[in-house]
Amino acid sequence: MKNVLVCVAWPYANSSLHLGQIAGACLPADIFARYHRLRGNRVLMVSGSDEHGTPITVSAEKENKKPEEIVERYHKEHAESLARLGISFDLYFRTSHPNHKKVAQDFFLKLLEKGYIEERASQALFCGTCNRFLPDRYVEGTCPHCGATDARGDQCDRCGKTLDPADLKNPRCRLCGKPPAFRETRLHYLKLSQFSEKLLDYLKSRKNWRPNVLKFTQNWIKEGLNDRPITRDLNWGIPVPLKGYEGKCLYVWFEAVIGYLSTSQEWARQKGTPDAWKDFWQDPKTESYYFIGKDNIPFHTIIWPAMLLGHEALNLSTNVPANEFLLLSGEKFSKSRGVGVRLKECLDEFDPDQIRYYLASVMPETSDANFTWAEFIQKNNEEFLSTIGNLINRVLVFSQKTYQAVPKPGDLSQQDIEIEAATVRHGRALAEALERCEFKKGLKEIVALAQTGNQYFNNQAPWKLAKENPQRAETVIYTALKLCRSLAIYMAPYVPTTSEKTWAMLGYSGGITAGLWGENLPELPAGQKLGPVAALVKKIEREEAAA
Ligand code: MF3
Ligand code: ZN
Repeated sequence: MKNVLVCVAWPYANSSLHLGQIAGACLPADIFARYHRLRGNRVLMVSGSDEHGTPITVSAEKENKKPEEIVERYHKEHAESLARLGISFDLYFRTSHPNHKKVAQDFFLKLLEKGYIEERASQALFCGTCNRFLPDRYVEGTCPHCGATDARGDQCDRCGKTLDPADLKNPRCRLCGKPPAFRETRLHYLKLSQFSEKLLDYLKSRKNWRPNVLKFTQNWIKEGLNDRPITRDLNWGIPVPLKGYEGKCLYVWFEAVIGYLSTSQEWARQKGTPDAWKDFWQDPKTESYYFIGKDNIPFHTIIWPAMLLGHEALNLSTNVPANEFLLLSGEKFSKSRGVGVRLKECLDEFDPDQIRYYLASVMPETSDANFTWAEFIQKNNEEFLSTIGNLINRVLVFSQKTYQAVPKPGDLSQQDIEIEAATVRHGRALAEALERCEFKKGLKEIVALAQTGNQYFNNQAPWKLAKENPQRAETVIYTALKLCRSLAIYMAPYVPTTSEKTWAMLGYSGGITAGLWGENLPELPAGQKLGPVAALVKKIEREEAAA
């Protein structure tokens, strides 16, 4: 038994969630967390709404609303949609909460005290027409790294580099389009340059990182780490906790990553065991994982680790399995550009497990992947429904009709023994894939096992055996039921509702509980009364998904 901290990128509470964010971060994290709970490990899974900074104010201004209204609306919507999808956060918190604010300000002060943060004079972009500073998303221009002309002051979407507004070539004010000028201000800088060596050591000590994440990070460090301003001339955010800094806030990224910690502490407090967070942050044996999209890599593999190193006595990440992008007809899902499929609308139309199944099968783990409705339907109808759902249904319908309970097996034939061996083999391969955060591969093991089960059921033809050799029929059905039970456990991280339904049809009254996947799984008891059988996976008709 070990402790596993599962951190999930915090979506900005500025617009509806789209499937790209789900396939990119929330779903892999949830599969991983559910898997570890099933294995009996102690899991803490945290995330929440990222509610500050220019992503929020820019959206608020566009909608002609106060930022407070925007974050209130989208925080509720996100929390609700994620719950409907079955994303099993231990706590989904928010950065506007006073308890987060306190933790973030203390973190800042601690790094300041230790000399890792320092105030400096800084040249920041100022729009004379709008009479204001233009932090982050208020300025757009040409990326100094890749030449994209629509880079934002905080990041270039094309090459993924994080930027400082002052880096942009040909900058223009997002509000009025005019070129801004530099004006002196005073900002606090995180002295990233001091952490190069330590960060390289940390990277060397990690295993199983995805090659793209590792390369991106190493290149960044090798190019030389620049100290970065972590405060902004902006009113919407967490105030700099020092006298004389009115009108300045902590940079949204600096405080949002601290949310992983503040949320763990809040979770412990709400549970009535205020120290429980320490098991997940200070025990060196604890493993911590950060599930994010690739545009978030530098914040999670450089800036946050540097902050943690500076803070001391907090664990660094074990792995940061960042995903690439999910594309819609070749274009990046993007909230700001309105490309994508909204989770909320998808949930109104399909069962959560149908969405989870398809997204798990196209997860952009090692390269960008394409979302298509045609493939959604195909995966659902021809794999989830006809390979997995139908196997379980066929076995259970037959069992229910013929025996109403789990039959008693006789001597096992070679084929039965092979089925048991295949179950163990696919289970092991699945577990290995999940441990390494290879979720697409894991799903393939489940499908392969279901295929094996279908073949076995067809070849053995228990409906014939029932007449010709009833004892043999009972053994076959027992073996098939056992395979279905293993399938229910194996697929629980991916499609939890379908698993629970299968579990109940097998006659179990308690749900699929923590620790069930492992040595302690008891024999399937002969004589156990089966539950009522119902279809598991709905067929999707073409018109439905035409939207
Ligand atoms: N809100 C950011 C985004 O959507 C992610 C923040 S992750 C956190 O890209 F670590 F800062 F919380
Ligand atoms: Zn302007």
